[in-house]
Amino acid sequence: MRPSAPTLEHPFTGEVADAEEAMALGPEYVLAAGKVIASHVRNELAGAAVFDEPAIALAPGPKDKWLACRIAMEEYGHHLKFTKLAVELGLDDATAGRTLSVFDYELRSWPEFAVLKAIVDLAEVVLMEELASCTYLPLRNLATTLLPEERFHVSFGKRRSLELVADPAARPLVAEAVERLVPFTLPFFGRSVSANNELFRRWGIKSHTNDDSRAAFIRRSRRFVVDDLGLPFPEVDVRWDGGPA
Ligand SMILES: [Fe+2]
Ligand SMILES: [Fe+2]
Repeated sequence: MRPSAPTLEHPFTGEVADAEEAMALGPEYVLAAGKVIASHVRNELAGAAVFDEPAIALAPGPKDKWLACRIAMEEYGHHLKFTKLAVELGLDDATAGRTLSVFDYELRSWPEFAVLKAIVDLAEVVLMEELASCTYLPLRNLATTLLPEERFHVSFGKRRSLELVADPAARPLVAEAVERLVPFTLPFFGRSVSANNELFRRWGIKSHTNDDSRAAFIRRSRRFVVDDLGLPFPEVDVRWDGGPA
């Protein structure tokens, strides 16, 4: 089953059933799948701790407190499920390494949490939709299983954002959150020039360049902000080279 090294023009297109098959395919495949899994291990945990748990205290009423609890529980659950895949692949410590700069963030208000779920979780949906057709079946299956929960987070965020933007007292907070959160989300997709992305595409773990995924996110989030919320969308660049977004 070990093919000659795949290229960007001729990427690996097989299906890898489990960790044992991944290892048989070689260390580069394990590295490619492992790096993507490890980034989700770290970011699901950081997101739950930095965004979702603090939101429980900010929630204005019992139903929102319950929903924030549910979302926090699901995000911690995502962390555990990605961790299971990391362990199967023999990754020593998938929590080691840098979390995204987006997680150096202090959540300030409930409207901000609503916008965060609509926008940051939309980025997660864009990334998971791509993984739902990747060559590593355990990762493909996990992404497919988690997508309904991520889509629920986005729809919750959109619904609450729409209610809040209609409230004159909350509208400025919604607009401010959009201005703050869109640029913060762009690094999620990785640098424009990325050896990792090429590795992922050669092995069919990913199928798009980082800029293509970032562009899809910008398109989808702009539609929500401009058409649904009636707010301006921040000036953003589809390219990102590692500096402040
Ligand atoms: Fe998640
Ligand atoms: Fe989520």
